[in-house]
Amino acid sequence: MKNIVLKPAARLRGEIVLPGDKSISHRALILSAIADGDCHITGLSNALDVNNTIECLKKLGIKIQTKGEQVIVKGGGMYGLKAPKTILDAGNSGTTIRLLSGILAAQDFITEITGDASLQNRPMRRVIEPLEMMGAQIESNMFKAPLKIRGNQLRAIDYASAVASAQVKSCILLAGLYAKGITRVTEPSESRNHTELMLREFNVNIQANPGMAGVKGPAQLQPADIDVPADISAAAFFLIAGCLVPDSEIIMPNVGVNPTRTGILDALIAMKAPVQTEPQVTINYEPRQKLIARPVNLNPTHLSGSLIPRIIDEIPILAVAATQANGTTTIKDAGELRIKESDRITTVVSNLKKMKANIREIKDGMIIDGPSRLRGAEIDSYGDHRIAMAFAIAALFAEGETQINNIECVDTSFPGFFEMLESLRNG
Ligand code: S3P
Repeated sequence: MKNIVLKPAARLRGEIVLPGDKSISHRALILSAIADGDCHITGLSNALDVNNTIECLKKLGIKIQTKGEQVIVKGGGMYGLKAPKTILDAGNSGTTIRLLSGILAAQDFITEITGDASLQNRPMRRVIEPLEMMGAQIESNMFKAPLKIRGNQLRAIDYASAVASAQVKSCILLAGLYAKGITRVTEPSESRNHTELMLREFNVNIQANPGMAGVKGPAQLQPADIDVPADISAAAFFLIAGCLVPDSEIIMPNVGVNPTRTGILDALIAMKAPVQTEPQVTINYEPRQKLIARPVNLNPTHLSGSLIPRIIDEIPILAVAATQANGTTTIKDAGELRIKESDRITTVVSNLKKMKANIREIKDGMIIDGPSRLRGAEIDSYGDHRIAMAFAIAALFAEGETQINNIECVDTSFPGFFEMLESLRNG
């Protein structure tokens, strides 16, 4: 088990190249794998999660090569996958297991797919149910991984998802590519729409409105070249660091600012910390922009309702930020946090309490009274990359030293995170 001891930072300065967006990277690989020929991906994330998708696709017979800055996926068409010889391992990655399940549900072979202990504890009923309605047969461990997916000729469905989840929506849309007719998913509020936008890039007939997406099958995917923007969920840690460490200026070029992901920017505007600059550039339907974070006095804010899916991965770091805001911040309607890589309501609240923040857990969120002077403490990541990184940022403006235990998990989304942080201290 690796740990790190962090001291407060006097300032953080510099320009950083963040990893490619993790969500877009998974989709670029998976869609390329079933496209009709070679696809070129630039800016692909080097996260372990994304590597797990690559390894799963390779086990399914897809050739993936790296040439300099480019990753080339030799798409084999809709039915180009081969029965894997061994069980697929999604590691810690919910996106890998849930999105791949959508494709595997339509293959004429059986696939077993599992993940690490955390992933084996996360709910899979949300994808098993719709895929079985479409005709697949899936054995599971009481609706959890490992999953044994027996593919079938699928039928189109109209599915009302009880949760706003891009993984569920994407899983069903991917299965819908194989079903005759229109497969439609509605969700209670809009989740990230990268799958819908990218399918358009692969020339698939897709309809999408906020809260509704439909795909016409059977589809054929024309090869496409995808440029992945920097990950706004990775940027979030440095946005908050730059706002809270005195005398800082952190510049982040080319960050993906798809409106279904920019809840963090909206939250920061509400907290009186605007960080967006320059006009946007759009490639592959995905807008990107340079972000710059500088110190500000944060206002408190209220995060709830349809904003939650747009900040779901940023809530741990926003909670850390809220401890420094001048008043009470509330986070509600965020029960989905309990079934992420850790129970992020409990892990954020218990760690912030250790640092002497004034914070209270509620069923679907938390209430934070700021500002409070955080004190260095011994923190556990609970094996959750976003918890490890959120508390590394908290350490920068806490009094004394903070030890973060169990930090290997950071590689799940952001290899090189701690090195980047150090480079800013010396910038
Ligand atoms: C993701 C969707 C979100 C998010 C996860 C990545 C995706 O999960 O938390 O980190 O790439 O589709 P849910 O769909 O479960 O909300």
